[in-house]
Amino acid sequence: MAYKNKIFLIGFMGSGKTTLGKRLAKKLDKPFLDLDVEIEKSESLTINQIFEKFGETHFRELESKVLKALIINNKQFVLSLGGGTPCDKKNMDLINNSGASIYLKYNAGILASRLIGGKAERPLIKNLDENQLKEFITNKLIEREVFYDQCKFTIENNNVRVEDLIELI
Ligand code: S3P
Repeated sequence: MAYKNKIFLIGFMGSGKTTLGKRLAKKLDKPFLDLDVEIEKSESLTINQIFEKFGETHFRELESKVLKALIINNKQFVLSLGGGTPCDKKNMDLINNSGASIYLKYNAGILASRLIGGKAERPLIKNLDENQLKEFITNKLIEREVFYDQCKFTIENNNVRVEDLIELI
């Protein structure tokens, strides 16, 4: 089916979108793309630098623009999105109208332990201590799950083999 040509990996920071995306792309013989990497290429700046120089609102505009361009300009891919990308109705609708969306779901406690070592390159959490990080994730998840839950497929705690996931979608 055509919707399988474009596969979108969705989930909070630290949910393993890139790792699973690369494995899925290899098995499906599709190109792997990472939205953050594409944004960095298009601006010749890191995500941290974009947030520092222009702020989050501008980053969100770039995110929507680059997402749209990738969908238009590519026939197929496995695309790993940023944690905030689907949290905009227009983006989520575009994603679901363009292909198969997969939500990689973890609870806040697991996400906090997965993220504690990977804060530095993530502007939203880089200055938070462990307790603040847990609180931030708990609150953001409540806000974001409204969007994440619109995905066509949900994988909880990475509990499915790539082969089975391919069968599922
Ligand atoms: C963000 C997640 C990041 C990146 C940016 C903002 C978010 O991507 O897009 O730092 O709002 O959750 P990852 O989910 O790949 O870390």
